[in-house]
Amino acid sequence: MGIGTAPGKVLLVGEHGVVHGGVAFALPFPAVGARAEVVAAPGPLRLESPLWSGELDEDTPMPARGLAKAALATLSTLGVPARDLVIRMDATIPLGAGLGSSAATAAALVRALLAAHGREADVDALVHLAEQEAHGNPSGVDGRVIVLGQPIGFRRGEATRLVPTGGAFHLVVADSGVSRNTREAVASVTELLSSDPARGQAALETIKQAALEAMEAWQRGDAGALGRTMDRAQEALVTLGVSTPVLEQLIVAARGAGALGAKLTGAGMGGCVLALATDADQAGRVAEAMRAAGARRAWIQEYTP
Ligand code: MEV
Repeated sequence: MGIGTAPGKVLLVGEHGVVHGGVAFALPFPAVGARAEVVAAPGPLRLESPLWSGELDEDTPMPARGLAKAALATLSTLGVPARDLVIRMDATIPLGAGLGSSAATAAALVRALLAAHGREADVDALVHLAEQEAHGNPSGVDGRVIVLGQPIGFRRGEATRLVPTGGAFHLVVADSGVSRNTREAVASVTELLSSDPARGQAALETIKQAALEAMEAWQRGDAGALGRTMDRAQEALVTLGVSTPVLEQLIVAARGAGALGAKLTGAGMGGCVLALATDADQAGRVAEAMRAAGARRAWIQEYTP
């Protein structure tokens, strides 16, 4: 009846800064993604996925509560009853790894429901409902970049800026295998801001500035400068307390294999590390080094103008 897909995402620079008024520089990450298929089937509205299967209604528990919210809101927007449909979901995005699994599954689901009814709606707003369930008070960057499918500079309350790719960039993303919770990582930064405001604010300022410089470097096609902004952002993320020894081990391995820059991506406290390689061959070596240092998986993604 209807199919919807969505890519994952990576935050190149700007995580946590974006929660506190800064810009996040975010990229779609099509190496992983989510797919939903809607079929007609008499009975209550149901989700079938490897992670969770059951009825989608006001009482749907975690981890599917956000998807239930997005599905009910989409059907209500369309003015059709929330029944007689089954949504089959599949995703290659690891959960809790900072690659946007919650926003991408919600986007695929909303798109599949809209396709099934041959209609259009504000996908970003519907995805945001799911994100609020999953993360509390998310900035909205994950949903926005996943729905737009292009590199963006995102600041809350401002028009989203598209950031054209000025040269070829080779990113390596490695999963530490430690799953984490965005809500907890965001709360720990808020705690630091009240216990040690000077230190917390200084680190956030560094991240906000690095995000702006990273967008300029991306547009110029300047991989060297981009790598340096990534390293600076990582230092500030360490100060914020959201990096971990496991992530740092992967970062050291990436830099040892010649990466131009490396940092955690997403909320931190686990999840993935992002490294910038000089070319495709070196990206392979960086991925190999991160696997040897304990990464569960590594993906290579090229971005070209
Ligand atoms: C989410 O991928 C990254 C954070 O900045 C949280 C958010 O933007 O809502 C940590």
